[in-house]
Amino acid sequence: MDNLESQELALLLDPERIPRHVAIIMDGNGRWANRRGLPRIAGHRAGVNPVRDCVETCAQMGVEALTLYAFSVENWKRPRTEIDTLWRLLRFYLRRELPELNKNNVVLRVLGRLDALPAKVREEIDYAEERTQRNRGMRLNLAINYSGRAEILDAVNAVIAQARLAGTLDTLRLDEESISSNLYTSDLPDPDLLIRTSGEMRVSNFLLWQIAYAELYVTDTLWPDFSRTELMRAFLDFQKRERRFGGLVMKDPVPAAIAEDEWIEETAVSSK
Ligand code: FPP
Repeated sequence: MDNLESQELALLLDPERIPRHVAIIMDGNGRWANRRGLPRIAGHRAGVNPVRDCVETCAQMGVEALTLYAFSVENWKRPRTEIDTLWRLLRFYLRRELPELNKNNVVLRVLGRLDALPAKVREEIDYAEERTQRNRGMRLNLAINYSGRAEILDAVNAVIAQARLAGTLDTLRLDEESISSNLYTSDLPDPDLLIRTSGEMRVSNFLLWQIAYAELYVTDTLWPDFSRTELMRAFLDFQKRERRFGGLVMKDPVPAAIAEDEWIEETAVSSK
């Protein structure tokens, strides 16, 4: 923990209800740089620090998985120089942070269509994944050249291919389990908490299947300013939520039959 405020907030957390899987849409690097009269790439560079802080904090707090949206399939539309800078930053991060990831027992995995990435980036990813695969602590997923829709389509096609191979294509019926077990995150719980920085109210094609019941936390803070304190605020906010997964939480239960009869009578009277 880097400051008193985040330490104080951490003490307010219920250690039994730390989100198991946290997903983050890191947004606002460009705006952060713009506001300072700097080139957009300065914002990306400044965005590496909160990545490091979040990884360390989540690993130390017992989060099982942290998934960070680092590059979407749509990001290819950006200027070439910006994309090249993102690759350079990623390689820099992986190389520099490897000892720290190992120290924190983090297992690194990259999610996305990696064949489109420059060879040097793929090599760095392979190396970092290989060097962390024997760790037993938090899983860190970096979503790179990632698309939630593509992931679902890949999963569906994988189920079809498996059925074709097994000769059961004619009778194939897809269910939730068959999709879930073919996603990049098949070995992880779905995210409990999805954080988005820079105030945008969008999910931007991120983990579309997996976030079905995730609690959303949107902050106006731009990603380079996202601190441990803000992460603790997101956790506290999460712990205040009542998660119902589509069901009901009855605090002061009214006998259902009576409540329903009264409602029907009232509706009948008022619509006369
Ligand atoms: C969104 O900000 C951010 C990105 C597209 C890239 C995220 C990259 C980093 C945080 C840097 C390093 C990452 C790792 C994993 C080491 P934006 O450029 O869309 O901001 P804007 O909406 O203000 O333009």
